[in-house]
Amino acid sequence: MSGTSSSPAAASAAAPLAGRHALVTGGARGIGAAVALELARLGASVTITGRSIEALEARRDELRAATGRPVHAVRMDVTDPASVEDACAHARRLLGPPAILVNNAGAAESAPFARTDLALWRRMHDANATGAFLCSRALLPDMLAAGWGRVVSIASTAGLRGVPYATAYTAAKHALVGLTRALALEVARSGVTVNAVCPGYTDTALVAGAVATIVAKTGRTAEEARAELVRGNPQGRLVRPEEVAAVVGWLCLPSSASTNGLALPIDGGELA
Ligand SMILES: NC(=O)c1ccc[n+]([C@@H]2O[C@H](COP(=O)([O-])OP(=O)(O)OC[C@H]3O[C@@H](n4cnc5c(N)ncnc54)[C@H](OP(=O)(O)O)[C@@H]3O)[C@@H](O)[C@H]2O)c1
Repeated sequence: MSGTSSSPAAASAAAPLAGRHALVTGGARGIGAAVALELARLGASVTITGRSIEALEARRDELRAATGRPVHAVRMDVTDPASVEDACAHARRLLGPPAILVNNAGAAESAPFARTDLALWRRMHDANATGAFLCSRALLPDMLAAGWGRVVSIASTAGLRGVPYATAYTAAKHALVGLTRALALEVARSGVTVNAVCPGYTDTALVAGAVATIVAKTGRTAEEARAELVRGNPQGRLVRPEEVAAVVGWLCLPSSASTNGLALPIDGGELA
């Protein structure tokens, strides 16, 4: 079946994702919240998931008010297989089978390699790679049955190049890019596309945490630490969450059906 076919009747130029249910992991804040807003603006009904139900419900109310779309908040820890299964089943009951999955949940911890223990290695892989595997495994069968679907994972420029003092995070994001490329080929004839976006440093709580770590470990000021992160971006600034969300929204459009297996930098030219 063609990836551009089987548009729900409600879809229109103004709301090309109308009739589609999108599930966004880690949707309460940062890049995930911006993605949820963009997909709702494009017409999708949206389930946002994460570990903090209070934060999710607050964001859900904002999304409903801003877009008028059906939005639900469901608790999910992507590192826990039972939690992923339960949350996906709950989301399916609320809004029907998700046709769009955005694997956004993730965490970033840094450490010199000599101080990277097995627990840190596992935390990074569980949050950034295994979570996407579990969510994709839970939701892909519905997409394949429908003959249409979009899986977009939020990887990182660290999924495409080496980042010193972040071996565990870097390896996990490379794993996420590998998952994306292999799965994209496996489902290429199904109407489902599988892509990743690879942001550079983006203005969210995650970067605020990185700045705090640099300050604590080096004694530099927060301004110096932020400048250090920005230095790698040729545009001389952090990426904005809405800029990542705009690309994710585009990848989810029916008209993006030929874009499959991509790991697209959104980095102001960092990897150019
Ligand atoms: N900011 C950057 O510079 C940057 C650059 C490249 C890639 N990224 C990637 O972009 C994604 C979003 O990051 P962000 O910058 O928006 O960071 P953020 O503000 O810290 O958001 C991370 C989100 O992931 C959720 N999350 C974390 N662990 C989870 C778990 N075990 N189960 C379920 N949800 C979990 C968090 O919600 P709860 O804590 O409530 O669970 C939160 O909503 C991440 O995958 C990150 O690696 C970020």
